[in-house]
Amino acid sequence: MILDEQDKQMLAGKFGNAAKKSMEILVALGKIYGAEKLVPVTSVQVAGVSYDNLGDAGLEYLAELAKDGRVKVLTTLNPAGMDLENYKVLGIGEDFAKKQKLVIDAFVKMGIIPSCTCTPYFIGNKPKEGEHIAWSESSAVCYANSVLGARTNREGGPSALAAAICGKTPLYGMHLEKNRQAQVAVKVECALSGTEEFGALGKATGEKIGNKIPLFLGIKSASVEELKSLCASIATYGGTSMFHMQGITPCKTSVPKEEIALSKNGISAALSSMNDDTQPDLVALGCPHLSMQEVEKIAGMLKGKKLKVETWLCISRQVLQEAKKKGLVQVIEQSGAKFAADTCMVVAPIKGRFACVASDSAKSCYYSRAKNKFKTKVGSIEKCINCAISGKWD
Ligand code: F3S
Repeated sequence: MILDEQDKQMLAGKFGNAAKKSMEILVALGKIYGAEKLVPVTSVQVAGVSYDNLGDAGLEYLAELAKDGRVKVLTTLNPAGMDLENYKVLGIGEDFAKKQKLVIDAFVKMGIIPSCTCTPYFIGNKPKEGEHIAWSESSAVCYANSVLGARTNREGGPSALAAAICGKTPLYGMHLEKNRQAQVAVKVECALSGTEEFGALGKATGEKIGNKIPLFLGIKSASVEELKSLCASIATYGGTSMFHMQGITPCKTSVPKEEIALSKNGISAALSSMNDDTQPDLVALGCPHLSMQEVEKIAGMLKGKKLKVETWLCISRQVLQEAKKKGLVQVIEQSGAKFAADTCMVVAPIKGRFACVASDSAKSCYYSRAKNKFKTKVGSIEKCINCAISGKWD
């Protein structure tokens, strides 16, 4: 691997321990994946923030790096295990809160913005087409590559942090044009609408083609919210970090020979596979974190209503603050719904607290089952809110 003078100095420890350790990680990764050199990045998104996942070993690692590690580029954080201000309302205990705050302190000391959101593109970390970045939240990675046209591999938490400290990442994989071509054409033979249907599309496609890059054909339009839902589910159920959508996403690709078709039946089957025969005792929306448009829609539905089912709205603190200025937060909280800012229904330590979670998100269903052992229901945002109001799914 070709290293420039500064890379070599970092490796030799001239810029401190954190930079040395970080450069060692990047060089090791580069060698494994055959990178020719490192490439400068303009932005980083670090996952692995919840103390629930990190534990004490992860916290110690971060505290050690924070002694002399400072980030070189715009760096934002994925959701933490709790709402950093309002954790008591969500039932998070003091012991967990204390550890989670130490994790955030270490990141802040390194110069990272404690944004705690999986939708950094809603809060100012929105790279442009062609920019090299190092992101590690799978849904955001897919959004950055597919919708924004930026270039990132699906980093792990430590490799993203190393890229932030060194300002570079190894040049391989999704950074190279030749690896960004579609491998399977997916003919969508039905109209789709809503985050739940686009999430189902991601599940059905991901389960069929694994981590190959699809080119979706036949989709007439897709909103930002529908695309974020698709990004989250296709990355979860298949593992790809990019798709193309003819006429909608920016990157050019040739049409691959391999082709599959998805009909209305395929979408319906994906939706029903996420619906268990249990009434929800938690409605959780915002996977990935809610956009302002979604908050406006939910506020419109909740105005003057009282909820019968515990309801969490997962959101970045920045979008929450903007919603507060618009008077939407007050309307929503009067209904009894709770905001879960900085966190989400998956990374918060809520295993055992609920039997069945309802959402509009295929990704949320996957992890609610796999991590928290909950039953799940999936439907439109309207259906989820109606369930929260009436107390019944059907
Ligand atoms: Fe975001 Fe949590 Fe879903 S991190 S993508 S809301 S699982």
